[in-house]
Amino acid sequence: MREGAFGNAVELVCRECGTTKELGPHYVCHECFGPLEIRYDFPVITREQIEAGPSNIWRYKALLPAPDDIELSPNLEPGYTRLLRADNLAAELGLAKLWVKDDSTNPTNSFKDRVVACALSAAREFGSTVFACPSTGNLANAVAAAGARAGIRTVVFIPSDLETPKQINSAVYTENLVAVDGNYDDVNKLASEIAGEEEGWAFVNVNVRPFYAEGSKTLGYEIAEQLGWRLPDQIVIPVASGSQLTKVHKAFQELISLGLVDDKPYRVFGAQATGCSPVSEAFREGWDVVRPTRPDTIAKSLAIGNPADGVYVLDICRETGGAIADISDDEVREAIVLLARTEGIFTETAGGTTVGVLKKLVQTGLLDPELETVVINTGHGLKTLDAVTGLVGPAATIAPTYEAFVASGIV
Ligand SMILES: Cc1ncc(COP(=O)(O)O)c(C=O)c1O
Repeated sequence: MREGAFGNAVELVCRECGTTKELGPHYVCHECFGPLEIRYDFPVITREQIEAGPSNIWRYKALLPAPDDIELSPNLEPGYTRLLRADNLAAELGLAKLWVKDDSTNPTNSFKDRVVACALSAAREFGSTVFACPSTGNLANAVAAAGARAGIRTVVFIPSDLETPKQINSAVYTENLVAVDGNYDDVNKLASEIAGEEEGWAFVNVNVRPFYAEGSKTLGYEIAEQLGWRLPDQIVIPVASGSQLTKVHKAFQELISLGLVDDKPYRVFGAQATGCSPVSEAFREGWDVVRPTRPDTIAKSLAIGNPADGVYVLDICRETGGAIADISDDEVREAIVLLARTEGIFTETAGGTTVGVLKKLVQTGLLDPELETVVINTGHGLKTLDAVTGLVGPAATIAPTYEAFVASGIV
């Protein structure tokens, strides 16, 4: 490993028992099997230093496990996506002030390009020869594309019933797309087995997970910076493994402790589809554990029945005064159209879930409509066209004449 390969990151620490381990491709604690995460020793970091950086996630490289010269390595340079004021949707939902953080504009059209960029940097430093992942779709797209650009062999594993656009979106970048007959949890188990057997494989969300997960922090940093270096009052985030939600919270905490934003209360909310809602169920029932479930929902990117970070999501939502809620597949579909018709943003089913849950949280009084809210759109609607097929389409099919147009009643 090169000197300074991981920037200000100093070690891995177990989230459960605090045992530490040197930086490396490790993800579970040898003492208690808890998940490992990265601990840093941050120097003074100023807003000006960050603002002088590139318009991608590497503007925050001092806060990530990345070397100072990260921009020299070929990568897709994701991040610094737009934060849009969503007044039309806010009016529709009865909210005072709403923003959409639109991560569908990343290189492979989901927030996964952020986490993969961090994992790729780590895999390079570990000398890995294969870049791989088990995925619900978007991650496979991001790994396949980033690996192609970096010139490293990629192998990506997905459940075989995944949406066709997501399959093609991986297969176009890699010849090694492996469709597994099973759900995501089966695919994940297979990946863990391969990671234990094969030398030199970097599974981004298995043995490189602590490094990968840090990429999601950049979503939190960007939201704060784009709001003028302050935190929102409320934020709604989709939950599959729960990694993204926990890391956005970590980002907010780091910004506070580094003095980059003022300390203030903020509420974190999680969104799931009812057909795969183990964390929402645990929240509703007041459990401290998350009971695994068998997914059955159109929100396939969120279809993880046994979420690795589920209990941490519960803790964060409870501690911050937030909540986790779920909605039906029909409500997911309606919310996709709602976001498109109010804000011109076409989201995939994960974003439909998040916007639909936002609506439900307002209706049930769990979210305060007077407080400033941010909702994260994590992926693009062109990847899940089936979700809205039949729900939207031509208003009329007419002959190419003015009379026919008038007769259609649209005029
Ligand atoms: C579009 C999209 N949004 C959200 C998520 C959830 O991410 P996490 O597993 O970090 O909870 C995923 C996961 O694959 C996803 O593809």
